[in-house]
Amino acid sequence: MSDSARHITECRVCGRQNWQQVASYGMVPLANALLEEAESYDDEPRYPLGVVSCRFCRLMSLTHVVDPAVLYRDYLYVTPDSRSMAWHMRRVVELCRRRFNVARDSFVLEIGSNTGLQLDLFRQQGMRTLGVDPARNIARVANDNGIETWPEFFSAEVGGAVRRRFGQPKLILGRHVFAHIDDIAGVAAGVRELLSLDGVFAIEVPYALELLEKTAFDTIYHEHLSYFTVGTLRTFFDRHGMRVLDVEPTEVHGGSVLVFVGHRGGPWRTRAVVDEICEQEERAALHDDETYRRFARDVERVRTELGALVRELVAEGNRVAGYGAPAKGNTLLNLCGLDGAQLEFCSDTTPLKQGKVLPGTHVPVRSPEYAEDHAPDYYLLLAWNYARDILAKESAFLSGGGRFIVPIPRPAIVPGSGLPGAVEAGLPEAGAAFRRIARL
Ligand code: TMP
Ligand code: ZN
Repeated sequence: MSDSARHITECRVCGRQNWQQVASYGMVPLANALLEEAESYDDEPRYPLGVVSCRFCRLMSLTHVVDPAVLYRDYLYVTPDSRSMAWHMRRVVELCRRRFNVARDSFVLEIGSNTGLQLDLFRQQGMRTLGVDPARNIARVANDNGIETWPEFFSAEVGGAVRRRFGQPKLILGRHVFAHIDDIAGVAAGVRELLSLDGVFAIEVPYALELLEKTAFDTIYHEHLSYFTVGTLRTFFDRHGMRVLDVEPTEVHGGSVLVFVGHRGGPWRTRAVVDEICEQEERAALHDDETYRRFARDVERVRTELGALVRELVAEGNRVAGYGAPAKGNTLLNLCGLDGAQLEFCSDTTPLKQGKVLPGTHVPVRSPEYAEDHAPDYYLLLAWNYARDILAKESAFLSGGGRFIVPIPRPAIVPGSGLPGAVEAGLPEAGAAFRRIARL
């Protein structure tokens, strides 16, 4: 069965309509649409998944937009309470406080606030907080934990209601939500109305250069409508009366950028790093069609090599399972043609996912306790962005002879030495593209 999705027309950043076709991956199920175990999965919805690049502003975008209510109203993604994520969230608080004077008693609004882990850190510092998140089930968890969260999609209208109840925020935060939104112009209008004149809009998005350099094609799924560079974001906010003030690379989700935006006429000066990064991006051949053709070829190579590697290991009698059941793992498995014939199960810490099966491949998701009792010979590291946490945590599996397969940027088997071996085997280093660019 296939469901309809809207084909994009003009670019949501620059308004033009001059797309380079990058890749088309056919009809793919939604990456977070895990299913209850069943006899048959004949009715599973699938939607077209394809990527284009705007020849004017070089936004990379999906070709099709799925109705956000289908994607987000009942949601399975819960921000993992991992060491690296906790560290990152504390850093976000510090950056906002020190650079933009987000002081005690300030009002902080977070869009796409999930269970409220990040807002809780602001609260601990004495800020007043409100979350807005369309996932009703997740917003309920946040509210139950005492983090006030409205179960809404952010819009100019919701922004007006926030302002009437709480006044103007000093900080509006959107971590890993801006790339999920089709009508970013509407969100920008709402933010501009709501944010105090000396306020800051801080968004974190996966960095498109990391996607290109790491062949991280698994991060392409229906929720991720846009793949941004800093230059693309600057073009966008210029059109909407706002100004990119500062940029900070982060390690999250395999390499992201935290971009601070203010009112065009606001008091903050623009840091030199913004111009420098945009100029360096200009020099990184992002305006050449060939860059995107090469990316598409690299993806084909990883698809073939990973599929062949896993099938070979299974043919040799090895037991293979997935480590983590992240959304991106479903792009990876579906596009590499791997399923229950190769993977016995996927282990995941998220209780909402356990007991269900993965979309498309129908591999069952099990708890880490189950995984420990049924340890395979090889784990395919689907949650590769947490490789450092995971390899440290799984030292017993490694010393017992178990091995990890890292899929990105090239399929590789991590030797028993764990992290050092993983780095040699080509473990993707988060932020590498950004650092390289910053050094140019
Ligand atoms: P994310 O990359 O989108 O944050 O998703 C990571 C997934 O991996 C999430 O479902 C939780 C899972 N996970 C584990 O199962 N074990 C772990 O140690 C970590 C860090 C994540
Ligand atoms: Zn464009």
